[in-house]
Amino acid sequence: MFVLRNIGQLAICSADAAQQDAGLIGAAALVIEDARIAWVGSELALPERYTSHESIDCRQRLVVPGLIDCHTHLCFGGWRGDEFEMRLQGHSYQDIAAAGGGIRSTVAATRANSAEQLMEKALCSLEGILDLGVTTLECKSGYGLEQTAELKQLQVYRQLNDLQAVELIPTFLGAHMIPDEYQHDREAYIRLLCDILIPAIGEQQLAKFCDAFVEEGAFNIEEARKILNTAKASGLGVKVHADQLSSGGGAQLAADLGAVSAEHLEYADPEGIEALALAGTVAVSLPLASLYLGERYIPARDMLSAGVRVAVATDFNPGSAPSYHLPLAMTLACLNQKMTPQEVLMGVTTVAARAISAEQRIGSLLPGYDADIAIIDAPSVNHWLYHFRANACCGVIKSGNWERNLC
Ligand code: NIG
Ligand code: FE
Repeated sequence: MFVLRNIGQLAICSADAAQQDAGLIGAAALVIEDARIAWVGSELALPERYTSHESIDCRQRLVVPGLIDCHTHLCFGGWRGDEFEMRLQGHSYQDIAAAGGGIRSTVAATRANSAEQLMEKALCSLEGILDLGVTTLECKSGYGLEQTAELKQLQVYRQLNDLQAVELIPTFLGAHMIPDEYQHDREAYIRLLCDILIPAIGEQQLAKFCDAFVEEGAFNIEEARKILNTAKASGLGVKVHADQLSSGGGAQLAADLGAVSAEHLEYADPEGIEALALAGTVAVSLPLASLYLGERYIPARDMLSAGVRVAVATDFNPGSAPSYHLPLAMTLACLNQKMTPQEVLMGVTTVAARAISAEQRIGSLLPGYDADIAIIDAPSVNHWLYHFRANACCGVIKSGNWERNLC
């Protein structure tokens, strides 16, 4: 058992609170017992029974729940720096994809890598991700697009969960693109997904969620509906990459399916937003993808006013968002999505936890929750997201264990 004392500001981030209210407490203390939070509140009210335990002086810093990056494509072969240059020269993301680059080129590189190579590369990213205060990360497959390579990615995630501290929540994204070999028989690829891959993944519990990319050049609404209904029948939760590059009814589909989250949504229309609100589906905003693609940002204010919870995530992948820097995405969400620092903090804690159906266990600093904590070298949430630094995180606790301690 140990006590964090002399906390300048602590953010509770309750799952029941409105998104604008991160539950800030000044001059706080927090008690960790085993792997859980035992007590939290004003230091003046710290119960007598805890005062004799080991205590850590937080030196007036900010204490927040361990950050949750609820949308990444962590495991991939190769990078696509040359496409970055092409986009800067005026070629669009869609044109590059149509010419055989984009997701297709990462599929080729991922298929060509061994599980060990993919694991080593992902491990390297996870080191940097943990440094930033991220303690849980959703991670998608979708760069295999064939049986062995999709399962290889999901198995890499399973093994990585035992090798390092960041908790990985795997999502099957076999419906990322139609692979080249099925370009002339899309139905056959959808049959492979629905008849073989999804049931096998459900049975082996290799993924917790199934996602589909609904977009021109990827999957249409009816194809995605079929795939995601099959996933539900196999015990997987549902997510949708929706309305990223055009408005195509993806938000409405996510709501119809009772999806736990709809991702991207840069082009979501008012009807789609209303449907998400009614269904209680979390909108996952990905400001780094908007930044890198020069695309519009998600209409977060309209969503929050309509009662939709808005998470913030990186979308880390080698194409549209080649960075895992969640605090950068957070500052961008303030600047370009006009979200307040408290709304953004909720978006990477309890709302992100909701986007992976884990808001009763992680993402809040309340008694009984997992002791996943980030200590930030800033006096307040406002200061942290305003004064952007390479890394302001100086302490990380995962399940009650110190994983980083520069305090
Ligand atoms: O979320 N939108 C589809 N998939 C990824 C991009 C993948 C890539 O470019 O490799 C995304 O932005
Ligand atoms: Fe994505």
